[in-house]
Amino acid sequence: MFASLKALPADPILGLSIKYRADTNPNKIDLGVGVYKNEAGDTTVLTSVKKAEKFRLENEITKTYIGGTGSSAFNEEMTKLIFGQHHKVLLENRVQTVSTPGGTGALRIAADFIGRCKKGAKIWFSNPTWANHNAVFTAAGLTIEEYPYYDYENKTLDFDAMLNTLKTVSADDFVLLHACCHNPSGMDLSPEQWQQIAQVAKDVGFTPLIDMAYQGFGDGLEEDAYGVRLMADTVNNMILCSSCSKNFGLYRERIGACTVIGESAATTDVALSVVLNVARALYSMPPAHGAAIVETILTSHELRQEWYGELAEMRNRINSNRTVLVDKLIEKGVTRDFSFIANQKGMFSFLGITPEQVQQLQDEYSIYMVGSSRMSIAGIAPSNVDYLAKSIATIL
Ligand code: LMR
Repeated sequence: MFASLKALPADPILGLSIKYRADTNPNKIDLGVGVYKNEAGDTTVLTSVKKAEKFRLENEITKTYIGGTGSSAFNEEMTKLIFGQHHKVLLENRVQTVSTPGGTGALRIAADFIGRCKKGAKIWFSNPTWANHNAVFTAAGLTIEEYPYYDYENKTLDFDAMLNTLKTVSADDFVLLHACCHNPSGMDLSPEQWQQIAQVAKDVGFTPLIDMAYQGFGDGLEEDAYGVRLMADTVNNMILCSSCSKNFGLYRERIGACTVIGESAATTDVALSVVLNVARALYSMPPAHGAAIVETILTSHELRQEWYGELAEMRNRINSNRTVLVDKLIEKGVTRDFSFIANQKGMFSFLGITPEQVQQLQDEYSIYMVGSSRMSIAGIAPSNVDYLAKSIATIL
């Protein structure tokens, strides 16, 4: 039976980690998968997470099934974190959140949910978008379209083209937007640009699906939620997928959330019933451990403050890495303008070199980044930035 199968290539992002681990060069640098690393290059467990885990270990009283929605305390806390305490969708009971296995689990729930709204529905992605969006939404049988987003030549946002394309989208379609820290480009919408996109969504009537995998990694928890909150204020229907992988460092615990907003409390409840039906067929119930950690942190004043501090530390380190790299490249005599890296947000930026040069960095210098030249900025450290800039200068 299996003899008819053809081997498939490794995932373009996750496959890099395998190659990196096998590389014996002591100078190797991992700018591949989007995982936060400290100055020593380690992805450690946050102290707030450790304390919440200790609390859970001492206080957990059952391992019985958690149910399809997951932990209601987690769902409530996540909803407030994303929308703020007093957003109108909360006051009007038009929002329902379920826990999911990571952000990818949330996206797959959203994709199947969209398929239930309209079989083979069309979903629009930014060009470019996270490589796995394509796989997740294609697996759910949706039709993928693209709107212009990143201007590769000028290293900026192609906003007019984006807006003009979104004006042509059908009211039956769905549009995927990145809440903040656009993956892979690092190019975010300004508040004024969000206002224009939200107005177009309202006028055209398409349904926004916002992917929020990096809340707190751009400008801050509140600032990064600006577009999400505005959109939820403006349109009647919306889906939001969020992740606790990055901001809580819970990567392997697989915890995220899928949120639906309907035009009334009643239609939102119906939407929730469909979400739960989709989840039951896909994985039945979400894992509980990550959700318990997050709800413990968010419901404890002390742990919450500690987490704010740890999140700020991660965000500030990534932001300073951006400037340090740009300055180092200048120091190494590079004349090409890389200042755009310092102005972009979140974990990623495109270096803007060719796939051949990306391969050369990997083969000759053991520097790993995605073939599109997407770099995970968190992999830069004081101990490797000199070697990194020198290597880039050489291949340029
Ligand atoms: C990334 O884009 O590197 C991360 O979101 C990890 C992943 O699953 O691809």
